[in-house]
Amino acid sequence: MSTLDSIRDLFPITRQCFVNSNGTTHTITYLDHGASTHPPTVVLDSYRDFLERYYANIHRGNHYLSQRASDLYDSVAGVVMDFIGGDASRNSVLFSGNTTSALDMASFLMQEKEGATLVSSMEHHSNDLPHRRRGPVLRIEVLDDGTLDYDDLETKLRNNRVKLVAITAASNVTGYMPDLKRIARLAHRFGAKVLVDAAQILAHHTIEIGGNDADDHIDMLAAAGHKAYAPFGTAFLIAPNDLLAGSEPYIPGGGTVKFVTDQTIVWAEGVDRHTGGTPNIPGVIALGEALKWLSSVGMDWVRAHELELLKGFENRLRAIPGVTMLGDIAPEKKLGVMPFNIEGVHHDTVSAILNNEYGIATRNGCFCAHPYLTRLLSCTDAEAVRSKVEAGEDVVLPGAVRATIGIYNNEEDLEKLVRAVAELAAQAQGGSLVDESVAKVICRETL
Ligand SMILES: Cc1ncc(COP(=O)(O)O)c(C=O)c1O
Repeated sequence: MSTLDSIRDLFPITRQCFVNSNGTTHTITYLDHGASTHPPTVVLDSYRDFLERYYANIHRGNHYLSQRASDLYDSVAGVVMDFIGGDASRNSVLFSGNTTSALDMASFLMQEKEGATLVSSMEHHSNDLPHRRRGPVLRIEVLDDGTLDYDDLETKLRNNRVKLVAITAASNVTGYMPDLKRIARLAHRFGAKVLVDAAQILAHHTIEIGGNDADDHIDMLAAAGHKAYAPFGTAFLIAPNDLLAGSEPYIPGGGTVKFVTDQTIVWAEGVDRHTGGTPNIPGVIALGEALKWLSSVGMDWVRAHELELLKGFENRLRAIPGVTMLGDIAPEKKLGVMPFNIEGVHHDTVSAILNNEYGIATRNGCFCAHPYLTRLLSCTDAEAVRSKVEAGEDVVLPGAVRATIGIYNNEEDLEKLVRAVAELAAQAQGGSLVDESVAKVICRETL
């Protein structure tokens, strides 16, 4: 069995079928890994094993189960730190429920610092809106091809007091991977810290935060298990210990204190200070298993495999008459993320037909990155769209279809996508794609 076949074999979901509205049975061709990835059996086993054999709350129990659960849970911080090459003596891992809450925590930890946050225009809303709530935000422009404008970054750093640069390691819209080391060097030269949103990259490409003293290190990094072959409900933020010590507690409550009287509180230190309440214990343990499993496969293998698929198929999609790809980024600088539109057909319709007629799972809409998407679509009237949305009018929102590659995808999956898109594009050009009933049933507006 090839390495790929043995990996694919670990994913029960690849054997799952569904029946479409015409009664046709499809095996699922999953190309929505950018939204969430499936857990392989090794991860599912660890999750179930915890529930069956060690289920107990952590950290304040003197009994066997609690201690066993605590040990399993506590060991995961080290796994995470190893996976992204962080220095455990100067940084901590804080677990949360999803990337959004991890990024929000980072924004909170920085809120008392003086200066603006510089957010790239390609960010997912989760690495943009939390910063807007906590002080001035400036934008790093993107270029027409979908890449970052480094000159603009430098200008904004030079001309403003910037405390934080918030940047994605890979865009969820185009897969573009900005040069994080270059960004970090620039940010540090001007006294700013760097927060990296690693939600997309974690399971697809090596990422190293580097030693705290290196001028190109990453100060904070957030990512989630549900995009890295672990179940939903667990994410993490890596942050420097001195920042944790100097900040108000993020979620005060159980576990965040040393002692409390009616009037006073002695706060705990480090991670405990900020993470009140019972965490997702089996989720964290499964996240650790997922990262260990990815390491055992080898992130170099993962990247080489996904890059080969991207190189083999993105250009074929691009070459289909009537298909427009968003962004123009060399495969080496992006993950296996392929956003496209078929001329004359709404992205919602395309995605629904891909599912219904071909069993292909894609995502469509604006991907929670409206400023980037409208820029890539050359949508000059974003302001007009905004005012209509605000007024509650019925608006056809701009968007695209996105196919994202994961570890178990093979050439057959991608071949199927290209063939399906070619057929749909040909039908669209011949005017026969959308019949009224299909349009009515499946044309929902999605954001
Ligand atoms: C780049 C990026 N950042 C943040 C998020 C938010 O992740 P979560 O759903 O884990 O909060 C996503 C989700 O798609 C994403 O793609």
